Amino acid sequence: MNKGLKIFLIVLLILLIIATIAVTTLKLLQNHTEEIIEPSPYSEASLTVMRNLNLYDEINSKEYSKTVEALLEDNELKKEYLEDYYEINYKNINNFSTIINELLAKDYNSEEINYITANMKDNIDILLNMDYIDILAFKDITNFEINNVERYLAYQEENEDYDLATVVTYVNIGLDKEGYSEYTEYTEEEAQNDLTILVNKYHKLPDDYVPNDLVSLSYSSNYYLRSEAAEAFERLTNAGMLDGVVFYPFSPYRSYELQERLYNGYVARDGVAAADTYSARPGFSEHQLGLAVDVRSNTLNDNLTSEDYEWMLNNSYKYGFIVRYPKGKQHITQFMEEPWHLRYLGVELATKVHDSGLTYDEYYDLYMK
Ligand code: DAL
Ligand code: ZN
Repeated sequence: MNKGLKIFLIVLLILLIIATIAVTTLKLLQNHTEEIIEPSPYSEASLTVMRNLNLYDEINSKEYSKTVEALLEDNELKKEYLEDYYEINYKNINNFSTIINELLAKDYNSEEINYITANMKDNIDILLNMDYIDILAFKDITNFEINNVERYLAYQEENEDYDLATVVTYVNIGLDKEGYSEYTEYTEEEAQNDLTILVNKYHKLPDDYVPNDLVSLSYSSNYYLRSEAAEAFERLTNAGMLDGVVFYPFSPYRSYELQERLYNGYVARDGVAAADTYSARPGFSEHQLGLAVDVRSNTLNDNLTSEDYEWMLNNSYKYGFIVRYPKGKQHITQFMEEPWHLRYLGVELATKVHDSGLTYDEYYDLYMK
């Protein structure tokens, strides 16, 4: 090979190498520039699923959504819900993608879904097992309990006059069920330690429960109340006297056995249905709590005169007692009006209950749980 040809080939080779390097560098540079201008925030896995769904351009042309990414990564993204996904806030909860799709399939909108995942995340299963409900209607009802939602709906259908808040409270109390058909039973400890517990046809005391601090009332050494209630009762009696209102206790603490004898006697006399309107069944009486006392204006009649009752309604709370079974509330308390029956709650709570105008059953559900 002559020298000229050799040089020519070498130069050609060098030029080729330079050209190759230049092209590669340019390509690299170009890619690099592209990444800087338009980096996709989605993970590789998401990008792959997007491509498979032919949604790469559409999704990448929109603002990043963590919800969309979660659905892509779980391979759960459904094209028909794409618009909705963008309105749904991402939540770090188990099975987020499946839950979102199931709620959307039940016709929940994004606003409802955001509410559900933010406020009810431990109870979403309950909603998933039911048809769509107007969940936002319950949003401001503080005593709403998701476990009761089917009962609310059934109760509302039977009681169209009640607003939803009333329905919720009444069902929480248990009023959609017959009294005594279902109830919770307090432990001995709960009963001893909490002077505010609610006792009604849905809340029972242990049969053998006896308060551990019963003391006798000055009126009679056979009449007992828990010590705090007994002291308060003396104050109430004295305050009444100062206002010219005189009343006497005639039935304070009653043991389970005494309540049983009384109730059975009433049943024998008047029948179960009637007895249940004015006497608690054994285990279900506030008298067994040692925190209830019946009072009367004179010994000829187990009741208060209407003047004394009026005074009691307006003053007993100042000494810690409420009139527990007021007029017009039988559908809630499940007992007829009993002007004579006082329940001790302590001054602070009795005042709040009095001022609320609610029965203790309602107040307890709304503010004590
Ligand atoms: N009379 C009330 C309801 C009671 O027996 O406790
Ligand atoms: Zn009573």
